[in-house]
Amino acid sequence: MTADTAAKKVFIKTFGCQMNVYDSERMTEALAGDGYCETTELEDADLVILNTCHIREKAVEKVYSDLGRIRDIRDRRRRDGKDTLVTVAGCVAQAEGAEISRRSPVVDLVVGPQSYHRLPELLKQSRETGTRIVETTFPDEEKFEHLTQKRQVRSATAFLTIQEGCDKFCTFCVVPYTRGMEYSRSVADVEKEAQNLVESGVRELTLLGQNVNAYHGVTETGAETTIAGLIRRLARIDGLERIRYMTSHPRNMSDDLIAAHADEPKLMPYLHLPVQSGSNRILAAMNRKHTAEEYLRIIEKVRAARPDIALSTDMIVGFPGETDCDFEETLALVKTVGFAQSYSFKYSSRPGTPAANMDEQVPDGVASDRLTRLQYLLTNQQERFNAQTVGQTIPVLFERTGRNGGILVGRSPYLQLVQAEADAALLGKILPVAIRGHGPGSLSGVIAA
Ligand code: 5AD
Ligand code: SF4
Repeated sequence: MTADTAAKKVFIKTFGCQMNVYDSERMTEALAGDGYCETTELEDADLVILNTCHIREKAVEKVYSDLGRIRDIRDRRRRDGKDTLVTVAGCVAQAEGAEISRRSPVVDLVVGPQSYHRLPELLKQSRETGTRIVETTFPDEEKFEHLTQKRQVRSATAFLTIQEGCDKFCTFCVVPYTRGMEYSRSVADVEKEAQNLVESGVRELTLLGQNVNAYHGVTETGAETTIAGLIRRLARIDGLERIRYMTSHPRNMSDDLIAAHADEPKLMPYLHLPVQSGSNRILAAMNRKHTAEEYLRIIEKVRAARPDIALSTDMIVGFPGETDCDFEETLALVKTVGFAQSYSFKYSSRPGTPAANMDEQVPDGVASDRLTRLQYLLTNQQERFNAQTVGQTIPVLFERTGRNGGILVGRSPYLQLVQAEADAALLGKILPVAIRGHGPGSLSGVIAA
């Protein structure tokens, strides 16, 4: 730690997916080594980082509106003789590069997801030279190796990125361009990080990747293993009680992974497996590489392996060329599956993706109506799933204190939020909870004797 950075404060705002949450944690850790501590007050921050998401247009516009607000704060701080460095990280940084500091001159540093390990060095360079820096290359060296292995975790649950990037090239999606080609970390590397996390109190790990079930990391022998092999290895770690993974692609839903859901007790009965649409015509135009029938067959196999599994999906409505008939097929698929959880979006045209140039863009009003109808159905399904747990006693891992005193909040195996009256000493413990009621997004219960 150097004297000039000893008291510096960093404010990080995270947009988008869990991968960004993980990356933000890792950036905080890299900066801690450089004397930065975290603040939740923007006005106090010597360094502001926006870890951005590029997946839909709205997400991008939000970043630019935040930058306007940050500029005002920076100007105020400047009048008080304080410096503020502004960094844009994440997928907007990767996709827009120098365009960001052209549009928002307040930005000092633009850094893509592959270069976070260089953050302290890049900041120093920016401070010393007073110039704007844009670092969005995809270096050959491996970013994970540069990040501190020992992690400071404050919760019983943690994310662990095992795979990054995507080679699937769905025609609507920017991820293959912003996160690059598919890359898997080695088993030894993942195991080491998992072991460290468990030693610092983590009981539940969520393995992350844009295409997590395409994982193919190398073992000590140089052979490759699948995500199922990795899960079975991690399950041997004493003290690790629960394993989850997301996000998966139907094409990589292999039989060994499905089998792990049947016989690996630490693997939680929850599967986020986006289908996006129920129309084969639209799935083909999306380049999803699976049909509705193939998706349904996978669901059948998964349910045969683990009948109580909670299924989750991402859906897009209003993809170019989507007709009423295509949309009805989407509703039909959703009715057939019965999802416990879901994320649904209006198609958002992303520059540079093939779908942006497709004819027959769907009018916004039509897409909005479809989204309303779809979300009505999906919300009902989620409520039905939650309602069926009422009366059951299920194990809950308590993660945090609730807003009201004496209440702890945790997760069921099915990833439902569960609230129960409990002493704070029970944080980080898994306890049986008798579920008594359910609200729109959470369950409530009492700890069973
Ligand atoms: N428009 C709308 N939704 C999108 N997604 C990805 N790209 C787009 C887009 N251009 C959704 C998909 C994906 C999730 C992370 O975001 O459903 O699974
Ligand atoms: Fe994007 Fe498709 Fe890759 Fe998912 S599988 S990250 S939607 S390109």
